Order: sequence, then structure tokens, then C-alpha cells
Amino acid sequence: MQNVQRIVIVDFGAQYTQLIARRVREAKVFCEVIPYTSTLEEIRSRECVGIILSGGPASVLDEDAPRIDPGVYELGVPVLGICYGMQLTAYTLGGTVERAAQREYGRVPVTFDTRSPLFAGMKGESIAWMSHTYHVTKAPEGFTSIAHSGNCAFCAMANPEKRIYAVQFHPEVTHSEEGQKVLSNFLYNVCGCTGDWTMSAFIENAVAAIRAQVGPQGKVLLGLSGGVDSSVAAALISRAIGERLTCVYVDHGFMRKNETESVREVFTKQFPVNLVIVDAKDRFLGKLSGVSDPETKRKLIGGEFVYCFADEANRLQGIEFLAQGTIYPDVIESGSVKGSAVIKSHHNVGGLPADVKAKFTGGLVEPIRMLFKDEVRKVGEELGMPRDMVWRQPFPGPGLAIRIMGDITEDKLETVRESDAILREEVALAGLDRDINQYFTVLTNTRTVGVMGDERTHDFVLAIRAVTTDDFMTVDWARLPYELLAKVSARIVNEVPRVNRVVYDITTKPPATVEWE
Ligand code: XMP
Repeated sequence: MQNVQRIVIVDFGAQYTQLIARRVREAKVFCEVIPYTSTLEEIRSRECVGIILSGGPASVLDEDAPRIDPGVYELGVPVLGICYGMQLTAYTLGGTVERAAQREYGRVPVTFDTRSPLFAGMKGESIAWMSHTYHVTKAPEGFTSIAHSGNCAFCAMANPEKRIYAVQFHPEVTHSEEGQKVLSNFLYNVCGCTGDWTMSAFIENAVAAIRAQVGPQGKVLLGLSGGVDSSVAAALISRAIGERLTCVYVDHGFMRKNETESVREVFTKQFPVNLVIVDAKDRFLGKLSGVSDPETKRKLIGGEFVYCFADEANRLQGIEFLAQGTIYPDVIESGSVKGSAVIKSHHNVGGLPADVKAKFTGGLVEPIRMLFKDEVRKVGEELGMPRDMVWRQPFPGPGLAIRIMGDITEDKLETVRESDAILREEVALAGLDRDINQYFTVLTNTRTVGVMGDERTHDFVLAIRAVTTDDFMTVDWARLPYELLAKVSARIVNEVPRVNRVVYDITTKPPATVEWE
């Protein structure tokens, strides 16, 4: 990212590192997460205006604990250590870290020295979120305590002259009442940030970067799923190189109602690109016929997708670059930041095998790989993409195929597609489509007895699933209003064939998952 101020977050493996990055971005400052194994030179070369050392599960007293080059504290760039990052700072600079008599966990009232630029404008006493077993008992030379609690003398310490700060609590979690204030104080009062990270600055940067990467002649192929990530990537690349972008959308027949039409509408009228729609419905349905095991369904769909995509890539001549809608959480969770070997394959391209990828001699174009989901949405809005495309809920790669329990038929696809459309329509009418993070219907393979008019029926049970969540790792079931559930249920049994009973899934994740298969 050129011409914007940058904060570097050194990751020591904390579950909250992503959250720190999100909070910094929310404060309109660009930041990048790098592994603690990065060298001093790698950190220096980023020309950042501040460094944040994250928390982490290790104890600094362990011999093999993650360390940092002490040169980090001599770069002349402000440093903020958080939790493990504070203990590491104390340990590295000659303070004392000890195991506390009791693990401190949860909401703790903390007294802050509001004369410090880190705590300026704060209340003096507020709740902070703690989660630690070790703590600093003696600060390094040049440091003083700037916050304390009932049982911790060093909830925060500072060496203002060297602009090194450290906090034992977690300012990034919302349980810390003034956490965002602490972070923005560090960014603005200590690092001198100006808040130059805006989505319009990003777009300008990204367009220039795509042009530089692809060159004046280069051609790019993008796998478009209709989801927000690949759609925004397409719009950005199209703005940068226009007709030299070709988007391939594979319709496997398990799409939601009107999905293909809306992709066609957006990418032929609103954001005209070279769009290839591959109608592979028969191919997929044939392949899936009689298959009822969820994992087999996923594998067959993923495999067939790759063939379709590879066929198109072969057919279209002279394309050297492959574009993907990879976003920052994919990057952070993959090997590139954690240093692990697990590379997450992105569903937009169905985890393309090496030989297909190798066809693209120019390499990958991933214009939104530094963005979080909410930023991707802002970019979409800024580019003038339609609201319902920008705010659409996630939709799994295998689509409706994993929302039909057991074997798939055209009739069952119609049932789940129509019922899903009714649910979406009613949730939108109730004005709840932005509040509920994902909602859909599931066709079970259970039939029950019912009565319609004077007739006895023996039809399927259909389930409604609606969840609220921040990250889809844990979810709660949405408390949909009864009136809405009543209306959806009545409409589904009246309008959708083969359903005589509607149930509502009231299970959290864990122990359940979002999808039923
Ligand atoms: P689960 O069911 O694992 O879902 O709790 C979490 C999120 O992931 C989506 N999901 C998938 N996405 N391919 C995808 O691209 C899949 O096979 C798949 N399975 C689940 C799910 O819709 C939810 O948003």
C-alpha cells in the first residue's frame, strides 16, 4: 500500500491479533500483521509509523518463547506492547516478569494516569479486559507505571522519551470500555497518524497497483462466484484495466433464485465486463445424481468446478493472470502470517490445482488481499455497486446442494430454492437483512403427515436457519420475530410444493454448525 501511513502488528500467536488489526483500521489507519519471526530488516523496510506487539499464549520465561530483536525498540518508531507484548518488552529491556499468584481473567477495574498521551481524554477509572497468568513486577529502566488495578501495579507502563508503551489488558476487545480510545490515542497522540486510510485512498492505490502488475497489455481471468469478495475484486480490476479482464461464472445449478440473472445484470449493465457464464447445470446434476453423503457432494462439486474453470481457461487464449477475491482473514489464517503449512484454498476458484494455476504465467492478482470483509463492503459501496450485492450474506461454494439433505433432484432443488427466496424476501421486508448475518432454508429428508383442505398429505419437513455472528466461528440463532416466522411458514407451505411442515433451528454453533451438511 503506497502513500499511506502504516502500522506494523507483530503477531505472537494471540487469538485477538486479527481484532487488533481491525480496530486499527477502524481508526482509519492502515496496518499489516506480520509473524514474530520477521527480521528487524523486514520490519524496518516497511517504513511504519508505529509497531504493535500482540499478545500470545507463551510465557516469556520459557526458554523457547517467541522473542523479538531488541533493535525494534531502537528504530525510533513508537512501540505498543499488548499483554504478551508488554511482558516481552519488560523482559527484553531488563524489567522483571513473574508468574502471578492467580491468573487474572475477565473484566477488571483499572485506574489510568490520564496525563499520559496513551490515556488522554479517558475517565481515569474504567473496566479493562484481562487474560494473563504472568505479569510485570518491575519495569525496565526509564519506564514508569501509568495504570494499576487492585492486584496489578503495572497494568500499563511507559517510557515516553523513547515512545515505548505497553498495556497488560486487551484494548482491542469491546469488553475494555475505553479500549478503542487507548488504541486511537496510541495511533494519533503517540505515532502522529493522520487517519489517511480511507476506502477512496485504497481504491486509488489498488487501481495503480493492478495496472503496474498487469502492464499495458496483460489480460486477467477472474473466477466470479457472485459473492461480495470476487464481485468487488472484479469491479476494481475492471476499473484498472477495463476490457482486459474476463470473468468466468460457473452456474452449477445449485445457485439461489435469480442469482445468475443478478450476476449477469450487474456485470453486463452496471459494471460491464467480459463475462462468460458457463451453464454447467446438467453436468453437475448428472454427477451428483444419487449421491447423498455430504463430503462426497462437496468433493464432486469442487472437482467438477475445477474442470469447468480449466476448460474455460483453455478456451480463452492469451490470458496470463489469474485473479482471486482473497481477503485479509484468508491471508492471516493461511501460512503467510502464522508460519504454518496450512494454506487455505479460496472457494472462488475452488482450490485450483497447481497445473491449472501454472497456466497463468503472470501469476495471481489479488487486489483485496489486505482488506477485511467490512472494508471490502465499503469499497463496493464506494465503487457504486448495488447495495444487495455489497451486503449479501455468505453463500457456500457447493450452494443449495448441501441444503438438501440426502440425494439431490430437480424437484428438491426447486423446493429449497423457492422457500429460500420467500425467506429472503420476508427478512428484507421486515428490514432485518443487515442484522441477521446468514439465513436460509434447509430441505430435510423427513416426511410427515399433514392435512391440506380435506386431503391428507405426506410431505417434507423444511427448516429455517437464521444466525447472528461476528466471524462465523461461533454463532447464535437469530431471535426472529414470531410474526415474521409465522408469515414465512404460512407462505412456504402455501406456495412451495412438497412441504407440509416448517420448523425453526434454535441451535448455536458450537455444537451445531451453520449449514446442516
Ligand atoms: P459452518 O457450516 O461450517 O459454516 O458452520 C460456516 C460458514 O461457512 C460457510 N460454508 C461454506 N462455504 N464452502 C464454502 O464456500 C463450503 O463447503 C462451506 N460450508 C460452510 C457457511 O455458509 C457459513 O457461512
